[in-house]
Amino acid sequence: TSPLVIAIDGPSGSGKSSVSKAVARSLGLSYLDTGAMYRAATWWCLHSGIELTDATAVADAVRAMPLVMGVDPAAPTVTVGGTDIGEAIRETSISASVSAVATNLDVRAELGRLQRAAIEEAGHADSFSQGRGIVAEGRDITTVVAPDADVRVLLTASEEARLARRSLEVHGDADAASVEATRDQVLRRDADDSTVVQFHVAADGVVTVDSSDLDFDQTVQAVLDVVAAR
Ligand code: C5P
Repeated sequence: TSPLVIAIDGPSGSGKSSVSKAVARSLGLSYLDTGAMYRAATWWCLHSGIELTDATAVADAVRAMPLVMGVDPAAPTVTVGGTDIGEAIRETSISASVSAVATNLDVRAELGRLQRAAIEEAGHADSFSQGRGIVAEGRDITTVVAPDADVRVLLTASEEARLARRSLEVHGDADAASVEATRDQVLRRDADDSTVVQFHVAADGVVTVDSSDLDFDQTVQAVLDVVAAR
């Protein structure tokens, strides 16, 4: 049997990461968080003292980044030169700067190349998934990185639902003040990202799963149903 490639895109707060991990676990597949790779690139540039406005320096730094992505969906890891940066890349300073790095087209070319290599690797018998395949999630996986994936899903949710989820994640609360604090950050990042990647409308052949009125388990099931129906 040939490896299964599942591509999942969506805006921030759509639940992409948790849903993708659960789908990968349930099917015994590898899991690749491509947003974590853009976050790692941002961490690496800041850590190396590079001005994010210097596009050439940023691209050079990212090409030299010793990044290793751990693809076990039960415990995904991100290491750069042996340093575990899984937590550091979730800090607000990274979230606030990541779009500046992700809109660099040379960075996108380099990370896209690494992402295709990881997808290819998951088809090998000696890989984590033993050749069963991978769930790769991000903003441009269904369209640019793996347009010929076996299953392509756009995971969406209403703005209200996305803000409430992110607020819970970041502030541990979804009261009015916390949602308001999240709003600017989330919407600005999506707006900045939208200048180079399109992830609000499903491309041809991509199945939309709207999770606004679904709980977590129902959303995972909806994606598994798309996989089963392929
Ligand atoms: O998914 P997450 O919110 O962690 O992604 C962080 C950032 O990485 C996004 O805001 C976007 O700038 C970038 N990204 C991207 N293309 C992807 C995945 C993420 O540009 N495929």
